[in-house]
Amino acid sequence: MDVGEEAAPLDERAAKAPGHVAIIMDGNGRWAEGRGLPRTEGHRQGEERLAGVVRTADDLGIRWLTAYGFSTENWARPKMEVDFILGLHKNIFRRLDEMHGNNVRIRCVGRAVSGTSRLPRRILREIERSVRTTESNTGLNFTLAFDYGAREELVYAARNLLRAHRDGGVPISEPSFAASLYEPALPPVDLLVRTSGEQRYSNFLLWQAVDAPFYVTPTYWPDFDRSELEAALEWWRRQRPVVHEEREPAAD
Ligand code: FPP
Repeated sequence: MDVGEEAAPLDERAAKAPGHVAIIMDGNGRWAEGRGLPRTEGHRQGEERLAGVVRTADDLGIRWLTAYGFSTENWARPKMEVDFILGLHKNIFRRLDEMHGNNVRIRCVGRAVSGTSRLPRRILREIERSVRTTESNTGLNFTLAFDYGAREELVYAARNLLRAHRDGGVPISEPSFAASLYEPALPPVDLLVRTSGEQRYSNFLLWQAVDAPFYVTPTYWPDFDRSELEAALEWWRRQRPVVHEEREPAAD
């Protein structure tokens, strides 16, 4: 937005934006390697980019933003890289004051919810603090998928539901399954975005994104700026089914 330009009211912006955008942030390593920098520099820039995208998403009227910060598969990377990415959590959660000030509600999905996480205790405490501090906020819902894998989430939900079924007679159905996931409040994904060109789910939100249009940009994540997010939203608007008015058959 240009200086001096008035922002449209939130309702107006939200009406033009997908309710839930989920992002697979890919290409940090290639971004860094292409500049002769260590891969970790790509992750550092990626974390800053994520903080910027949270602000932009809020500004564009997106109500739910979910980002893939660390997958269960990422543990297989070299220890130095894993430690670096885990260390970055500090930066994103250190932005807690800013996000809290902007009325952002933070959530986290992943093994932290099921109590099976290998994450260091201090990180788990930090996550818990961010979630608790912001739980009454009513602005953008920002969810970080951290130590997250969708297949594991589905198994977790199945176990939860079976227990509730056995102990409390909860019926086994799509709504009760959805309510058994890591974060039942997470709405269906309206737009799934992946950077750096690959068109793969990579074990991300398999239940929630089942019907989401999948937007892929060749841009590496550290370069994913406001204009990139706006382009993704523009693409999404064009995917919406067009409702054709019924027409009288044309007369010859
Ligand atoms: C993919 O790039 C990105 C990741 C594995 C981690 C994503 C992490 C961030 C964006 C930083 C923010 C972090 C937190 C904790 C909020 P890649 O390394 O797979 O890139 P490549 O495919 O080019 O090798």
